[in-house]
Formats: sequence, structure tokens, C-alpha cells
Amino acid sequence: MKLTIIRDDKEQIFEIPDSVYTLLEALRYIKTNLDRTLSFNQGCRSGVCGSCACIVDDKEVLSCKTFLSDNQVIRPLKNVQIIKDLVVSKEKIDENIKKYKSVILENSNANISKDDTKKIDIQSNCILCQSCYSSCPVFGVNEQFAGPYILSRVYRYVNDKKEANQKEHIDLIQKDGVWDCTLCGNCTMVCPEHLDPKNDIQLLRNMSATYGYMDPNFGNMSFGGGMDFGFNPNF
Ligand code: SF4
Ligand code: SF4
Ligand code: FES
Repeated sequence: MKLTIIRDDKEQIFEIPDSVYTLLEALRYIKTNLDRTLSFNQGCRSGVCGSCACIVDDKEVLSCKTFLSDNQVIRPLKNVQIIKDLVVSKEKIDENIKKYKSVILENSNANISKDDTKKIDIQSNCILCQSCYSSCPVFGVNEQFAGPYILSRVYRYVNDKKEANQKEHIDLIQKDGVWDCTLCGNCTMVCPEHLDPKNDIQLLRNMSATYGYMDPNFGNMSFGGGMDFGFNPNF
């Protein structure tokens, strides 16, 4: 099987034996047998650590959970700093977690039931693989944008009964946050852990409204002259 890897914007083609099943195994085969200089990340090799994300044929995937097929084209994630070949920086993760304070800010001392934890189960499963950031068109043009996994984490903490300070989480996502998303759904499509950041963002918008916030773009929208909001008050 042929595998093309984009390194430094140049294509390099490798021949891989049919006995190799996953993309990560193929990368390991190349490193051991064909080109020792190839760099890529790996950790758990079972879809848990989030370190092996890359792009295969224009879609973000985990290389350890992706079956190899002929003529695949592999490249590093987008919208993140490339360190070498398929290795990308994880610095933005820590930076964003600090910036958006996506941790418990004030303990409520509430009793937590199983049903309470179920409500935030899916968001808690994020493995910080950065696939959603790579797929996000808004993050591609505005690196200040909080982005999908941070907004899903915020949703998680706002809905965590242990958190007593929901308002500060909501305050922090008003600028470059919840209203900047185009709701394209790319992040939801690529997430290997089946999170749905697009839906979380929609729910966060509703919660923001309950705290008195509104879409700042709304005032800039043109409806064809003056302050016409598109309805006829006589009806
Ligand atoms: S939300 Fe999904 S795609 Fe985004 S970092 Fe978390 S696990 Fe990866
Ligand atoms: S739905 Fe929003 S956060 Fe997700 S990829 Fe599209 S613009 Fe980015
Ligand atoms: S090596 Fe850990 S998720 Fe792929």
C-alpha cells in the first residue's frame, strides 16, 4: 500500500506492507524500517490519550484508531503550531484552560447524584486531541477564539453541581467566544469522543441570554434600512 505524508509542505511517498492495519502502525513501520527522521506523536495507542491526532484525506482522526488504506494522504493538524512533521504544539491547551478558567471556581458543597454526573459525562470525556480546533474555520482566522473544546468544557463546568460560580464562566465566554461560532458543526463531526461542541455552544448561548447577554452581532445586522427587525407590528 502507498502512503503519502506531507512534511514541510512537501509530499513523501512510502510503501507499506499489507500486514500493517492502522495508520499509527504504519508510521511506526516507516520510522523503524524506512526513515528514522519521521516525527509523530503517540501515547496510549488505544484512543485514550489524544496525542496522535492528524489529518487523513482532509479529515481529523486519531492515527491509532484509523485503519490504513491505499493512497491515503496524511498531514499534521491545522491551526496549531507544527513542531516537526506530524508533531504539533499542545501549548494552546494550557493557555486556553487558564484564560477561560475552565476548572471549578467555587465549590458549592452540593450532594452529587449519579444523574448529575451523567449530565456532564460526555463533555468530561474530551481527550484534548485538538482535532476540533484543526477543523474550526473561525479558529483558522481568529486565534483568540475560545474554540470548541474550551466551550464544551465551559458547558461542563456551568452544568456541574459542584460549581457555585456559573456566572463567571458565562462572563468569560462573551468576547471571542460563544457568539463568534458559525455553528458549522465541523468540530462535532471530527470529535473522536463523540462530544458535540456545536450543541454545547448553542446551549451556552441560551444560558448567556438568561444572564442578560445577547448576540453582539445582532445590532450590526442589516434588515433593509433603519431598525427594521423583520416583523410587522400591525400583525
Ligand atoms: S472536543 Fe473532541 S475533538 Fe475536541 S479536543 Fe476534545 S476530544 Fe478532541
Ligand atoms: S461549530 Fe463553531 S466551534 Fe465548531 S467548528 Fe464550527 S465554528 Fe468552530
Ligand atoms: S496514541 Fe493515544 S489516542 Fe492515539
